[in-house]
Amino acid sequence: MGSLKNEEEVEQSNEAILYVNGVRRVLPDGLAHLTLLEYLRDVGLTGTKLGCGEGGCGACTVMVSYFNENLKRCRHHAVNACLTPLYTVEGMHVITVEGVGSGRHGLHPVQESLARSHGSQCGFCTPGFVMSLYALLRSSRTPPTEEQIEESLAGNLCRCTGYRPIVDAFRVFSKTDDLLYTEGSQVTKVGEFICPGTGKPCSCGPKDASTEETSKQSCEGNNYYKAVSYSEISGSAYTNKELIFPPELLLRKLSYLSMRGFGGLKWYRPSRLSHVLDLRSRYPDAKLVVGNTEVGIEMRLKRIHYPVLISVTHVPELNLVNVTENGLEIGSSVRLSEFLEILQKVTKERASHETSACRAFIEQIKWFAGKQIRNVASVGGNICTASPISDLNPLWMAAGATFRIIDCKGNIRTTLAEKFFLSYRKVDLTTGEILLSVFLPWTRPFELVKEFKQAHRRDDDIAIVNSAMRVFLEEKDQQWIVSDASIVYGGVAALSLSASRTKDFLIGKSWNRECLLGALKVLEQDIVIKEDAPGGMVEFRKSLTSSFFFKFFMWISYQMEGQKSFMERMPSSYLSAVQSFHRPSVIGSQNFEIRKHGNSVGSPEIHLSARLQVTGEAEYTDDAPMPPNSLHAAMVLSEKPHARILSIDDSEAKSSPGVEGIFFAKDIPGDKMIGPVIADEELFATDIVTCVGQAIGVVVADTHQNARNAAGKVRVKYEDLPAILSIADAVKNKSFHPNTERTLTKGDVELCFQSGECDRVIEGQVQIGGQEHFYLEPNSSLVWTIDGGNEVHMISSTQAPQKHQKYVSHVLGLPMSKVVCKTKRIGGGFGGKETRSGFLAAVAAVPSYLLKRPVKLTLDRDIDMMTTGQRHSFLGNYKVGFTNDGKVLALDLEIFNNAGNSLDLSLAILERAMFHSDNVYEIPNVRVKGRVCFTNFPSNTAFRGFGGPQGMLITENWIQRIAMEVQRSPEVIREINFISEGSVLHFGQKIEHCTLERLWNELKTSSAYSSARENVEQFNLQNRWKKRGIAMVPTKFGISFTTKFMNQAGALVQIYTDGTVLVTHGGVEMGQGLHTKVAQIAASCFNIPLSSVFISETSTDKVPNASPTAASASSDMYGAAVLDACEQLKARMQPIALKHNICSFPELANVCHMERIDLSAHGFYITPDIGFDWKIGNGKPFSYFTYGAAFAEVEIDTLTGDFHTRTADVCLDLGFSINPALDVGQIEGAFIQGLGWVALEELKWGDAAHKWVSPGRLFTSGPGSYKIPSINDLPFNFKVSLLKDAPNVKAIHSSKAVGEPPFFLASAVFFAIKDAIIAARADAGHTGWFPLDNPATPERIRMACADEFTNPFAASDFRPKLSV
Ligand SMILES: Cc1cc2nc3c(=O)[nH]c(=O)nc-3n(C[C@H](O)[C@H](O)[C@H](O)COP(=O)(O)OP(=O)(O)OC[C@H]3O[C@@H](n4cnc5c(N)ncnc54)[C@H](O)[C@@H]3O)c2cc1C
Ligand code: FES
Ligand code: FES
Repeated sequence: MGSLKNEEEVEQSNEAILYVNGVRRVLPDGLAHLTLLEYLRDVGLTGTKLGCGEGGCGACTVMVSYFNENLKRCRHHAVNACLTPLYTVEGMHVITVEGVGSGRHGLHPVQESLARSHGSQCGFCTPGFVMSLYALLRSSRTPPTEEQIEESLAGNLCRCTGYRPIVDAFRVFSKTDDLLYTEGSQVTKVGEFICPGTGKPCSCGPKDASTEETSKQSCEGNNYYKAVSYSEISGSAYTNKELIFPPELLLRKLSYLSMRGFGGLKWYRPSRLSHVLDLRSRYPDAKLVVGNTEVGIEMRLKRIHYPVLISVTHVPELNLVNVTENGLEIGSSVRLSEFLEILQKVTKERASHETSACRAFIEQIKWFAGKQIRNVASVGGNICTASPISDLNPLWMAAGATFRIIDCKGNIRTTLAEKFFLSYRKVDLTTGEILLSVFLPWTRPFELVKEFKQAHRRDDDIAIVNSAMRVFLEEKDQQWIVSDASIVYGGVAALSLSASRTKDFLIGKSWNRECLLGALKVLEQDIVIKEDAPGGMVEFRKSLTSSFFFKFFMWISYQMEGQKSFMERMPSSYLSAVQSFHRPSVIGSQNFEIRKHGNSVGSPEIHLSARLQVTGEAEYTDDAPMPPNSLHAAMVLSEKPHARILSIDDSEAKSSPGVEGIFFAKDIPGDKMIGPVIADEELFATDIVTCVGQAIGVVVADTHQNARNAAGKVRVKYEDLPAILSIADAVKNKSFHPNTERTLTKGDVELCFQSGECDRVIEGQVQIGGQEHFYLEPNSSLVWTIDGGNEVHMISSTQAPQKHQKYVSHVLGLPMSKVVCKTKRIGGGFGGKETRSGFLAAVAAVPSYLLKRPVKLTLDRDIDMMTTGQRHSFLGNYKVGFTNDGKVLALDLEIFNNAGNSLDLSLAILERAMFHSDNVYEIPNVRVKGRVCFTNFPSNTAFRGFGGPQGMLITENWIQRIAMEVQRSPEVIREINFISEGSVLHFGQKIEHCTLERLWNELKTSSAYSSARENVEQFNLQNRWKKRGIAMVPTKFGISFTTKFMNQAGALVQIYTDGTVLVTHGGVEMGQGLHTKVAQIAASCFNIPLSSVFISETSTDKVPNASPTAASASSDMYGAAVLDACEQLKARMQPIALKHNICSFPELANVCHMERIDLSAHGFYITPDIGFDWKIGNGKPFSYFTYGAAFAEVEIDTLTGDFHTRTADVCLDLGFSINPALDVGQIEGAFIQGLGWVALEELKWGDAAHKWVSPGRLFTSGPGSYKIPSINDLPFNFKVSLLKDAPNVKAIHSSKAVGEPPFFLASAVFFAIKDAIIAARADAGHTGWFPLDNPATPERIRMACADEFTNPFAASDFRPKLSV
């Protein structure tokens, strides 16, 4: 081995360089601590977003290109810039969204298509999606398939759109869509309708378009896709404007690099193995890095400090790939996506029996993280991390792989994979040794390897339990005998675990049912998971070990079928245990009519910011350039759920690098108490903390990282106090927020129960878990002072700028007139930025005011999730009386919500849950009682639906139970209990203009409900281990703030002399398209092009005292306020127009100005005819109701709890939609967000249910552990339709509110899952009713399908733990 005496001896570049978007940049020394994302954003390329910082959301996706010496061509990869150390891209070309296309230089087809297809709502995820597809296109030498496109997006999350429009926008780049690959394609066979929703031919067609003008308008464009040409060197080129690979980099080899970073960090990039070994001997504790997907997480989230990093990504000896006669040798630095390509190649080229293990790896890698991670994560990095849930380590072990290890002196030894893993994250490598390569042997005939994995979410998620199993069968005496086996599990112990006793049992046995039953018995003893095992879900994990083995047994039997003397026959219904999941391409359809009002209202216009969002030019709070002298803030947070603060020691923090100040409660200049309804929160805790994550103080420093580091160094001593950590605890201890008891009554419940009218009475409890908002843009506020602190200005990511203004003025002791808050747009809010963002602005304002310096507080994802509250968990106790037909006669309901440590909006949320406790049902006798629980969690808050969905879900639970009791379908029970025109609800409001029945019947027809029921029953008869279920669920959602005074809205409309119009109103654009709809209203009113109307921002100094943008009512209210202002202006201008006979609006505006007409008007609107009196429990809280219904069909894997939605058919009555394309987007987005709530997203807190988490702490505090729906969770068939001919007399231009109402409809998925579980339980002999808590995660599905594999571990009524 060569020796590296000092760094000068090796060939080293004179300067470190990087090309970004074709521009050469020299990388200075000293930046080794930076990620590529930090660097890009620091140099002003803010199109690349920070959504999570842990590789879990894809918002930071960029494309990295480098010249591959071996292939003699460029490789282009999508990577997560947040996990890419800056210097690893030295000598490479990075293309960010800004390099793809821009408003000024023209959009790239990928961007154009996404914008036109309504694939960008809030836009925060958008640059990441653009870059993922762009990288795929650049790296593909032939057009990708639809499947490849969807696969390339698995690592990108979107919380707004529901993904369907993104899939449709990108599908046009797949090779199946030949039309769009034709030069100058018009995509219009004569008369064919191009859907404005998708930009593609569509069934919603002109038959629905009411005017010729509209259909023409819809067909415009789509001829911008140019033919594709491919360049051998740099991959494909989609337009002639594509950035090429910089010629300098073609000639420049990636050479040795030695750089430094903050805090003495040393960073090396050796280019030869000898350098690696020398560095290793010089720095025995140095950390090797390849993809940094593990090391990066350790350093950033776990705060582990590694002083020396050796990046071995480009060391040729560690990148070797060797296909030999005995197997496959792979260098440890080979990236997973490359490994996958190699495996795919060898499986094509070699005999099938040799590649059983290869195929298992291919299948497992399919579900390994997202593409961005697989593009950088290495084979060796995964092995050496030795994670107990590594997806690949069980496979290496089961497949009999061997690892080659080299020490500093160049000595090589080989070890079996099975012996390499020693204990938790400990491997058989001594100091100085590194993993050189792995060797995967070919399998022999009748040697079969199979992989298994069950995660919370199928795509891009780590396993709960995974497994790899191998048997080698040999025929002896007309029996197939196991001559070798390996059964390995991950997720069951501290390391990947070999079930050695099971293996010993199997060897020598004939492969038959007896062998299966015996092996299952041994396995039960072999894999033992302790009750308090980290990760919890013990019963589920144990059941999975048996279920996986059963699946393996069946799979082997299936593979062996037809072999001579193989006698084990599988019943045909058992095939369902073997079939693996295959996802077809998503089919989406949108059906709506276009009802135009004027030139713009009613048109499916694209979101006005969409073009800025797809290019990354749209600015969010964190993108705004920091003023000179700015500081970054980080909060000092409570570590305890309930404790007395004994002392605070900030001495270490004060001397931490970059710190400029630390502030606590005593430093607050004004009032320290805040709160949206009552001021019951301390801005900074003084004596007592009441939740983990409560702010105790704030640190400001020169950088975000320094501020966060210093905040972590403030030492707080506590004295623990008893904590309330669930609703049950709160009820037991009577821990309620004061004055929050509510009751609603109708009829006489007691009398009804006693009268004997009810044939049956049932009682039960419904538990509903919370939900994290997971807006893609974390909370951010930038505050600065003017005139020595006399005025304070801020820009904030909030749905309620007025609340920021109010909180800041309050804590600083300034009049509100001297505080201004502006919000241009936010990257999603969903209620989470309504009240819980306000305290953050106040936190940043304190140091800004005291130091007279600008201060920015942008939350890291984990802090955001830990501190800003979620959707309330609810608990409902019901007693329901009904007839033998299922007609409901009485409902006695008690509901509790988990408010957390302050009241916030929890009472209003409880009230809405109570208002919606009847969903759509006529119940003669009702009593609903509600209480708001005080618990030691961060204050929970508004979230799309505002308690309504929880109220309705409780209802649908008992409806579904009645159906089981009377043995009729839940849909029939629903129908016979429907409200109708004139019904009086349990709070006194009369039902008017009810479209429920019409809508329900239309959905029943469009979803072919009856035949779907028959098909499902047929399927279930034929399949024992997969079951299908269907459900149809209705909704009625009340529109208005239930607090009357909030139903008011202001607007300011200004006309300029060139005829352009600037509109400002009190609502915030958060992706829902509010500004677009409001601009359409103004454009129609003035009869001017939509492009003449501009909405710049929301600002408290333009429109004062605005209500938060919430309650779905903003288009109704702000649209009406803007219309009011426009009408005033029109009235002023009309006489001038008549006098001068002017038609053109610009001319008229100019003449009006000359005639001294005021061209600025303030508009105002109050929602009429509403009001509710809680003292008497009667009134009209809602202006009107939005009705909807949804049908869903799902399929579950009863052995693992995996599920997918086969069909979702959603129908809503939205009156005459102001913009049907945006409304469809809201429906799809809400439905998928609701699907997350009912089936995927589970918050896990340190509580009695999760003792392995420290008390009161949120375990699921990032995308790694908290799983919102990904593209893979889209229903295969996703239909959305809007009810036709149903004008709404109560709102502007006959439209209806849309934001919240569709959310609950996703419960159709929940009840379809339950329907499928009922079928599974029936097969196992359980026919009675059973509870299923929300969310129906794989754990709950699997355990509810109680069968012989769960029996040893849990009873058939087992209820998995849930934080409520
Ligand atoms: C968003 C996300 C999703 C993920 N999903 C999955 C998943 O689905 N399944 C799964 O199994 N894992 C998953 N992981 C974990 C991770 O991606 C893998 O473990 C990955 O393979 C690590 O490779 P790397 O090259 O990035 O490792 P690095 O972070 O670069 O290194 C990891 C460790 O390996 C050591 N190392 C690297 N090379 C060598 C060598 N040659 N010799 C000795 N030590 C070496 C490093 O020193 C370090 O300790 C995920 C991670 C993230 C961030
Ligand atoms: S910010 Fe990088 S993946 Fe989320
Ligand atoms: S548009 Fe995707 S997160 Fe908002």
